[in-house]
Amino acid sequence: MPVISAPHAFNEGNLFVELKSIIGYPLYLKCEGFNFAGSVKLKAANEMVESAEREGILTPDSTLVESSSGNLGVALSMIAASKGYRFLCVTDSRCNLSTRLLMEALGSQVHIVADLDANGGFLGTRIEYVRSLCESDDRYVWLSQYTNAGNWRAHFRTTAPEIANNFPQLDVLFVGAGTTGTLMGCARYFRQWPRPVRIVAVDSVGSVAFGGEPGRRMIPGLGMSMRPPLLDESYVDEVVRVEEADTIRACHRLARRGFLFGGSTGTVVSGATDWLARNDAHGLTAVAIAPDLGERYLDTVYQTNWLQDLYGDQILDSAQVGAAGSPTADSAPTSEHSATPQ
Ligand SMILES: Cc1ncc(COP(=O)(O)O)c(C=O)c1O
Repeated sequence: MPVISAPHAFNEGNLFVELKSIIGYPLYLKCEGFNFAGSVKLKAANEMVESAEREGILTPDSTLVESSSGNLGVALSMIAASKGYRFLCVTDSRCNLSTRLLMEALGSQVHIVADLDANGGFLGTRIEYVRSLCESDDRYVWLSQYTNAGNWRAHFRTTAPEIANNFPQLDVLFVGAGTTGTLMGCARYFRQWPRPVRIVAVDSVGSVAFGGEPGRRMIPGLGMSMRPPLLDESYVDEVVRVEEADTIRACHRLARRGFLFGGSTGTVVSGATDWLARNDAHGLTAVAIAPDLGERYLDTVYQTNWLQDLYGDQILDSAQVGAAGSPTADSAPTSEHSATPQ
């Protein structure tokens, strides 16, 4: 019986969903949403806060400040509330309403930037704002998830061993890429694992994380409008890029089978399904990481008007057909998955 006295002390690390009956290929989805912050970012937040405390950077009169598309902000809000720090999250207009309300409910301040940066995203604007705050008052402490080694180290220490212990025969691992903390921590761990494991990064079309043209991206969490400083591509075997329409379809397909996951999980599952189809992977042991659950996306990914406005009426037909008439274990998915390998 787990009994805790701090919210960050609990994190379910050993829950996997077998997706073969839904996507037609054997794929185990590691669920990272079962903790009080509701996402994979609790691990990075914990590691970065603890190392700042150890190094004496964080003191009782510090105010934590961080740029986040939402999930790290919620995790830091929770930890800050528990440990008695002030926290200011700098996010943008694509942050889900419920995520912003969560941070405020936990006692954090939220600043929303609205100006696009040169790559058509908000990241540059958010970072500029954080920098200006830090220059204005030295009580601000910026952990900087984009450059902090604690971000990837958290996954090297926890996420990757949790996968390795449960799947000693692992052949291929699919990891969505935002800051690339999850990707780099897992990739570094499996590089020194005795068995070769293929590391497949999943990115969204419109992200420039691995190069390519910048474009509109409406689903927060995955993809970057700059090259992630933590990324070392020598650890990555392949990159799969997924269109947001395919992300939506994958999310709805999972939801129609009772699994309500966040947007980036749809991206990872869509990219993984496409890769497994192309690589005739029926005999492989494959794992993908689901960064969060779906409640925070009820007014976006799972909301009819939002979908119609952004992706047109057709997205709903295909999302619903994809869900109700989804391929089963015996019928492999077809052209619905248009992710392109790099
Ligand atoms: C929902 C979601 N998916 C994916 C990611 C990407 O994780 P990472 O930053 O470790 O690359 C994030 C990061 O914030 C996220 O919130």
